[in-house]
Amino acid sequence: MTLESVRYSRGSLLVLDQLLLPQECRYEAVTSVRQAWEAIRAMKVRGAPAIAIVGCLSLAVELQAGAGGPGLEALVTFVQDSLNDLVTARPTAVNMAQAAREMSEVATREAGREGATEDAVRERLICWAEHMLEKDIKDNQSIGDLGAQHLLERVAPGGGQVTVLTHCNTGSLATAGYGTALGVIRSLHALGRLKHVFCTETRPNNQGARLTAYELVYENIPATLITDSMGATAMAHKDVKAVIVGADRVVANGDTANKVGTYQLAITAKYHGIPFYVAAPVSSCDLSLKTGQEIVIEERPSQELTSLGGTRIAAPGIGVWNPSFDVTPHELITGGIITERGVFSPKELQIALTS
Ligand code: MRU
Repeated sequence: MTLESVRYSRGSLLVLDQLLLPQECRYEAVTSVRQAWEAIRAMKVRGAPAIAIVGCLSLAVELQAGAGGPGLEALVTFVQDSLNDLVTARPTAVNMAQAAREMSEVATREAGREGATEDAVRERLICWAEHMLEKDIKDNQSIGDLGAQHLLERVAPGGGQVTVLTHCNTGSLATAGYGTALGVIRSLHALGRLKHVFCTETRPNNQGARLTAYELVYENIPATLITDSMGATAMAHKDVKAVIVGADRVVANGDTANKVGTYQLAITAKYHGIPFYVAAPVSSCDLSLKTGQEIVIEERPSQELTSLGGTRIAAPGIGVWNPSFDVTPHELITGGIITERGVFSPKELQIALTS
């Protein structure tokens, strides 16, 4: 059985509470957009694709239960208000915003059709949200396969196994299944070409120690946990052949926002001549922004740094800065950007996605 961040059937949405992992594997019912917003904000569900999927499916559940309306105009307003609300839960990952734009367009278009009925529009919107789940898994499998193939051609053309390093959690728990950067690692493992993975603990929320480590152990993938500050020494001493991370937003020039700590890994990889890859679906690409400087970086509560598991670990009175993401400039993405449509250099990305 594979790990699932989300369990969905028409009218019912269950979300794995990732704050409880690895101690407890508990699913929580999400019956409204408001509940989804709270689960996303609290990081019970996290990871750019999973945030969008849970957001849209929570709306599908409300629509199935009859929310919105009566009347087409009221239904469309309800859908748009709900989507606008969901986008505010976490600002850096673009997937929810892209999905909101598309779902809102579907609502307007379907409601504008001659003879449109409330039931038909409702059904169309629910199907659209359900389709996201299937598409995300397929896209991740393509990312995994294309990424593994590219990486092996580049770093091990003569055959043999490779050791890689990853950051944060980009696996089944961050997506509808399989994962992006972790999907590439899964594909390498399936091909018998993965020697070892180093995963960083990913302070302050420990997505690496709690979630990636959990997924790797669950899948019997050979892996070792390191602290974030061990990235350079791991690259220097552990024969790391590539660094692969996910993305919350890739902009037109290839600059990429991802979990804080990604930037320093990219600098370190460049110093060591190790290719640095970003694996992300097209839904994480935002060509409306020219450079990474335009990306809004979420800042999270200071308690994430000052406490661990409810126990205060920082000296009382100390000031705290807690940006949740950082931006890796495109020059440091030396391996490429792995999408479901192919692997592109940051320079090629915009043309590849618009042609
Ligand atoms: O704060 P999080 O846990 O939502 O951050 C997650 C990441 O930064 C991931 O690398 C990114 O969302 C890609 S998940 C496929």
